[in-house]
Amino acid sequence: MRIGVLTGGGDCPGLNAVIRAVVRKGVKEYGHEFVGFRDGWKGPLENYTMELNLETTRGILPRGGTILGSSRTNPFKIENGVERIKQNLADQGIDALIAIGGEDTLGVATKLDALGVKVIGVPKTIDNDLNNTDYTFGFDTSVNIAVEAIDRLHTTAESHHRALIVEVMGRHAGWIALHAGIAGGAACILIPEVKFSVDKVCEWVESRFKSSYAPIIVIAEGAIPQDGDMITKDSELDSFGHVKLSGIGEWLAKQIEEKTGKEARTSVLGHIQRGGTPTAFDRVLATRFGLQAITAASEGDWGKMVALHGTDIVRVPLASATEKLKTVPIERYKESEIFFG
Ligand code: F6P
Repeated sequence: MRIGVLTGGGDCPGLNAVIRAVVRKGVKEYGHEFVGFRDGWKGPLENYTMELNLETTRGILPRGGTILGSSRTNPFKIENGVERIKQNLADQGIDALIAIGGEDTLGVATKLDALGVKVIGVPKTIDNDLNNTDYTFGFDTSVNIAVEAIDRLHTTAESHHRALIVEVMGRHAGWIALHAGIAGGAACILIPEVKFSVDKVCEWVESRFKSSYAPIIVIAEGAIPQDGDMITKDSELDSFGHVKLSGIGEWLAKQIEEKTGKEARTSVLGHIQRGGTPTAFDRVLATRFGLQAITAASEGDWGKMVALHGTDIVRVPLASATEKLKTVPIERYKESEIFFG
C-alpha cells in the first residue's frame, strides 16, 4: 500500500515517535510505501509532500515538534477543499491516510472517512481532552514541564513573599492544570470546568502565607471567574473557530493584589509546554500508537482511532474521539481541594 501521513493542529512532543513507528513497521513488516504530507491538511490540499522512509525517519524519536510540520488548516472551510484532497490523493496513488492530531484534525478525518477516504486516526494533544482514550501523548511531557516550572517558582515565591500564579494551557479542559497543580503542591488549582471565586482564592492565598509559606496558584488559560468571562488575547478566530486565550493569570494577579495587599505575579508557560523532547512515557505511548495505527491500516480497519484503554492500545471508532470533549470530572477536581490553602 501507499500511505500518506500527516500531523495537524498544535505541535506536540511525541509526534515524531508516531511517524517513526508507523514507517518502521510499515516498511519492515508490511512493505508499504509512505508519503509525508506537510503542514497538516494543507499537505493533501496543496499536494505539499516530503519523502517518508526509513532514512528520513531515523534519529527523530527524541525530537519535539513534527518533521512533517503542522497547521490549523480546515479543508471544509476552503472552496472545493474535499474534492482537491481526493484528487491529490488519487494523483499521488495514495491508498489511505494516517492522520495524527487532536479534536480539529481528527474531526476533519472523521468527515473524510464518511466521504469515503480511507483513514486511521492517532490521538494527539497536550490537553488530554480527546474522548475515548485514557491519555494522549504529549500530555505527560507538558505536565512535567509545568511541574518543573512550579518547583522553580516556589523558591522565588518564598524568598520574596509573593503569590505566584502559573498559567498553563487548557482551553476547555483543565487536565494539565490539575495534574501539574497536584504534583507541584499548588495552593489552589483553577480549571475551566469549575468557575472560581476570587474571594475564595484570596482566602487560600492568605492561609498559605499564614503558614509561612508562599502560595503558587495554577490556573488553566480557559479558567473562568464566577462573575466574569473567559479572557481572550484578541477576537480573531482560527479556521476551526478557536480564539487565542491567555490573560486570566494576569487578571487574577491584579485581583489578589487589590484584595490581599500581597504582591502577586504571573508566569505564562505558553508554548514552552509543547516544546522540546518528549518524556519516556510519551515516547512509549506514541510509539505504541504508531505501531497499532499501521497494523490497523494494513488490516484495512478504516475509520478507527488507536486509543489507550488501561494499559492496552485498542481501536475505537474515529468518530468517538470528537463526539464530546473529555473534561475533568468534578469528583476528580474535588479530590485535589483538600490541598488548597
Ligand atoms: O490544543 C493544544 C493547545 O496547546 C491548547 O492548549 C492551546 O489553547 C492551543 O493549542 C494554542 O494554540 P496555538 O499555538 O495555535 O496558539
